[in-house]
Amino acid sequence: MCGIVGYVGEKNAQDFLVSGLKRLEYRGYDSAGIVTLGADGEATLVRAKGKISNLEEKLAGAKRNDTIGIGHTRWATHGEPSERNAHPHQAGPIYLVHNGIIENYKELKKALKDFDFKSETDSEVLAALIESFYGEGKYPLANAVVQALKLVKGTYGIAVVSVLKPDEIVVARSGSPLVIGIGHDETLIASDASALLGHTKQAIYLNDGEVATVTEKSVEIKTLNAEPVSAKVEEIETNLAAIQKGGYEHFLLKEIMEQPDSLTETLRGRMNLEDGVVHLGGPGLSEAELRKIKHLVIVGCGTAYHAGLLAGYYIEKFTPEITVEAVIASEYRYRQAYIPEDSVALIVSQSGETADTLACLREIKKQGVKTIGIVNAIGSTIAREVDGGTYVHVGPEISVASTKAFTSQVIAMVMFGLTIAQAKGVKSGILKPYVSEIARMPEEIRKVLDEVRGEVEKIAGKYTKYEHGIYLGRDVAYPTAMEGALKLKEISYVDANAYAFGELKHGPLALIDDRFFEMALLPDGELYDKAVSNVQEVLARGGHIIAATNVDKFDLPVETVVKITTDIELFAPILMNLVSQLFAYYMTIAKGYDVDQPRNLAKSVTVE
Ligand code: AGP
Repeated sequence: MCGIVGYVGEKNAQDFLVSGLKRLEYRGYDSAGIVTLGADGEATLVRAKGKISNLEEKLAGAKRNDTIGIGHTRWATHGEPSERNAHPHQAGPIYLVHNGIIENYKELKKALKDFDFKSETDSEVLAALIESFYGEGKYPLANAVVQALKLVKGTYGIAVVSVLKPDEIVVARSGSPLVIGIGHDETLIASDASALLGHTKQAIYLNDGEVATVTEKSVEIKTLNAEPVSAKVEEIETNLAAIQKGGYEHFLLKEIMEQPDSLTETLRGRMNLEDGVVHLGGPGLSEAELRKIKHLVIVGCGTAYHAGLLAGYYIEKFTPEITVEAVIASEYRYRQAYIPEDSVALIVSQSGETADTLACLREIKKQGVKTIGIVNAIGSTIAREVDGGTYVHVGPEISVASTKAFTSQVIAMVMFGLTIAQAKGVKSGILKPYVSEIARMPEEIRKVLDEVRGEVEKIAGKYTKYEHGIYLGRDVAYPTAMEGALKLKEISYVDANAYAFGELKHGPLALIDDRFFEMALLPDGELYDKAVSNVQEVLARGGHIIAATNVDKFDLPVETVVKITTDIELFAPILMNLVSQLFAYYMTIAKGYDVDQPRNLAKSVTVE
């Protein structure tokens, strides 16, 4: 997630801007930049790709005593990480930094045909749009900002300065947080309060649809409709770690709980609910190319592999005459697997740097197969080497255990499958239930998280005595069970494995005794009765079963039931996976292990 800082006051602006950006590094970024304005109106713009230390090196040669400026750390969404795509962006006398996504930037850019764009970013378009209303300073900067924002669709948190008025910063937000720090003879801006700690404890949290003009000693807030807003000054949370984790104790819990918002970002601008159609521009495949696809290979490791397996189950259900094969990258790269004509390979990776997945990508490309990335980290190696792709836009996933990326990877791949089905002429009656459920998933996830979180925390404490767990599911609940088992084993070190319910009698049933607990994922639907008889097999052998289910009248005599109240049917397993995520989290807490940095593991496995 990008970071914004701003300063206007009596001290050296560069000092605060750099130290403030360092406080925001935890949010993940790939480039950084600042601009400061001299009283004479001279602007000093310094930007650098990579770490803030690269920016500091460049600043050493551009030391200024300016007392106003803005800065930014960029998590690329449009345009790869580079200096020219880094913020601040300049448009004539103004400079802008931006967090968020301007969905309609392409049409806005078309209307700014006289502007000499230097970058590929949506943010530069916003800077140019503001300048087009600024009239070389004839109008107040805040007015030009308001005029421009009224044309914008998407999300933004912005800070804007002008060399023609080097004593004020204009800030605005819609969907991307901004906080104004009230200091002594200085006013500070940041995208989260962690950058303000040590400078002030007084802050004004801007609300969506508000625009503020700040100077050394004043803050004036209005709505986009020019209604004055009385500023509410609040006490800042002083615990830095707590702020960086969004108030949660660990990044893992923060990332589990932010899945409604992260999935919303994945879906943003990619669905048209009126006609029940999805639009995935990234893969860059024509209708004819989509229609021709007969075979999908989905490549990933760990959670990314599970996401591919689960998405494959769904794609087979609504796309006719297509075969889907999800494979573990570290195995596939050494198989001599023949990939038939009319195949496409989906390369799934949160980090975009996983060595085995990258190696697979390169092997598959040698066979001339079209590769599509399902990646989170923009500009990562995999993202740059695939032929096309869809970014999942979940923001940085800090905790080693992947959670929000999994949910968005599955949905993004299902949406890719829907674009294939649409191109193949599959009846909208078949596809619409998937599209409408996907659109409802963010809110359903929010509801389920609120419904089960406290309950799962209580249950987890009762199951810490087990060193072995078996996760069970049928059909789409089986890859989901695999993902749940991985979550538990990788952070609580409990030996957890997943089996298809139907496989129990082919061996795993022999395991059932008091050393084991069982997590049974039991979605309602045509296979529920089959799963019930499997549950009874386990019960007959004294199994200690936790059932996660959305079945209304669930009455099996299991030890524990986690009821999910939802009318989501097709994607119910994704909601059940929330139980597994929270169960793994609270089991680990109960055991006292490191939730975010489990032993022996790295967030991105960049070696074989
Ligand atoms: C999942 O919780 C693990 N951290 C791990 O299995 C991970 O999914 C795997 O290493 C793949 O990482 P990637 O998505 O960044 O390629």
